[in-house]
Amino acid sequence: MTGVDHIGIAVRKLTDAIPFWRDQLGLQFVAIEEIPTEKVRVAILKAGATRVELIEPTSPDSPIAKYLEKRGPGIHHLALKVDDLSARMAALRDAGRPTLDDAPRPGADGSVVTFLHPGNAGGVLVELTQTAAGRPKH
Ligand code: CO
Repeated sequence: MTGVDHIGIAVRKLTDAIPFWRDQLGLQFVAIEEIPTEKVRVAILKAGATRVELIEPTSPDSPIAKYLEKRGPGIHHLALKVDDLSARMAALRDAGRPTLDDAPRPGADGSVVTFLHPGNAGGVLVELTQTAAGRPKH
């Protein structure tokens, strides 16, 4: 484990959430990315060495829309950087805490990611991410 990559925060509307995080809290706005496979739009903001990602659903059947319906806006997941995602996934499987995917799946910027269900991670949805070598640093 080499650090916190980002903290994911579920929001109803990026246009309402961005001004608070950028203007009142002073985080540096980086970009907005649409992730059609997850049915979300993500605003990336720099918070020192790590990032905050504001996540807005783009469809009522998005997992984030369901999360907002159930829990309201707030911290959705914690993303940790790992050096060797496949090895970490195997170690977790051996420890009886399997990740949601059998193999790493493609994430943003050429990274690979998977998730640990909160039931297997002390109530926290944990994202594990291995960044691509040479990935541009946001
Ligand atoms: Co994430």
